[in-house]
Amino acid sequence: MTNWSKSSWRDLPRIQMPDYPDMAALNAVEAELARYPVLVFAGEAQRLKRQLAAAGRGEAFLLQGGDCAESFEQFSSDGIRDTFKVMLQMAIVLTHGAKVPVIKVGRMAGQFAKPRSANMETVGDVELPSYRGDIINELAFTEAARIPDPAKMLRAYTQAAATLNLIRAFSTGGYADVHQVHAWTLGFTDGEKAAKYREIANRISDTLDFMAAAGVNAQTAHTLQTVDFYTSHESLLLEYEEALCRQDSLTGKWLAGSGHFIWIGDRTRQPDGAHVEFARGVSNPIGLKCGPSMEVDDLKKLIAKLNPDNEEGRLTLIARFGAGAVGDHLPKLIRAVKEEGANVVWTCDAMHGNTIKSSSGYKTRPFESVLREVREFFGVHAAEGTVAGGVHFEMTGQDVTECTGGVRAVSDEDLSDRYHTACDPRLNASQSLELAFLVAEELSARRSTQAAKAVG
Ligand code: PEP
Ligand code: CO
Repeated sequence: MTNWSKSSWRDLPRIQMPDYPDMAALNAVEAELARYPVLVFAGEAQRLKRQLAAAGRGEAFLLQGGDCAESFEQFSSDGIRDTFKVMLQMAIVLTHGAKVPVIKVGRMAGQFAKPRSANMETVGDVELPSYRGDIINELAFTEAARIPDPAKMLRAYTQAAATLNLIRAFSTGGYADVHQVHAWTLGFTDGEKAAKYREIANRISDTLDFMAAAGVNAQTAHTLQTVDFYTSHESLLLEYEEALCRQDSLTGKWLAGSGHFIWIGDRTRQPDGAHVEFARGVSNPIGLKCGPSMEVDDLKKLIAKLNPDNEEGRLTLIARFGAGAVGDHLPKLIRAVKEEGANVVWTCDAMHGNTIKSSSGYKTRPFESVLREVREFFGVHAAEGTVAGGVHFEMTGQDVTECTGGVRAVSDEDLSDRYHTACDPRLNASQSLELAFLVAEELSARRSTQAAKAVG
């Protein structure tokens, strides 16, 4: 890696990062964090990269999901458990549709810093700096709350470590047993409106019964009892990222130790900017958000910078155009990737292009738009002969009312009931699972088309 160090981003233009008023306090926090253990290990990031390589070839499917912004105030073991649980349920349903392994990556244990569309927020005649996530400042609308405080990085680290510790325990301690996870899903299909999903659920039950009869059960097959669950977040607050960046003693490669997978946001992907600079030098699998303003030339430049060795699984392109707009943007980017002969994983963030203001005044996302964007994404890949490698959602296992629609319909008027997000609206547990059933239908339709092509 030429001319790169974990600090080389400091010489380049940076945006969406706070100006800390107290440099001595910032330096002390950085020094302290730099002594802390990393949260993830190089071997884990490499394993995820191999699995993502398979997703790029259509031999696995990526499910990435979690909060828009993790919060200090709402941090609880129930919250972690519920999101973990619904992601496992979704993964089983998707595995059934895709007939390939589903890679589970949480927007968890580090997803704290937020890019904002405006630097300032105005309420009445008061103007204050915007809230930028709990790792930087506070949501409360007061002058003091909005001052960036570096000590919040230490609290974010502690929360991330505790989150990951619980996830690791759940992943191997029996909680993730496939029979257990499936039993929860059967509950969801009980309702009248969810009846159409019962057929898929029953087929999964049959498969598990068959395997048990054939002697394959959680006692004999370790993989039925444990899962690989990875963490991810936007690599936005580079002081935090740098402090947790370490050189692997075995390979000499640099690892972003803050999470298994980090991504570059749609607002901070300038090819010559600080965020691209940091990401290019770490060996983790990385993501790049591609919104409507992504131009073909920039994408080519970014691919060359971020994956110069064209390593499979290294780069995931996260398309987020909005329902109705996928056809305007995605085909030209797919063709650019083909022209470059670049290995990438294409995934669909069906949230960030679909945010609207509801009639009741809340920021929301209609379930129908989220689903429609996923379908358009699959449609374009089918037409281009390329692989739709995964989906990316803002979601929670809790029963919030932030997105409208779904079988247990949330209306504009319901939004005020349990609107808890610190940032963007999330799908609730029921909406997330329903979406998994609908995406699974897309995946099995795709398999049928491919099978027909292979025969014909
Ligand atoms: C996000 O994923 O929360 C986000 C801010 O996305 P984007 O960079 O695509 O707007
Ligand atoms: Co968001």
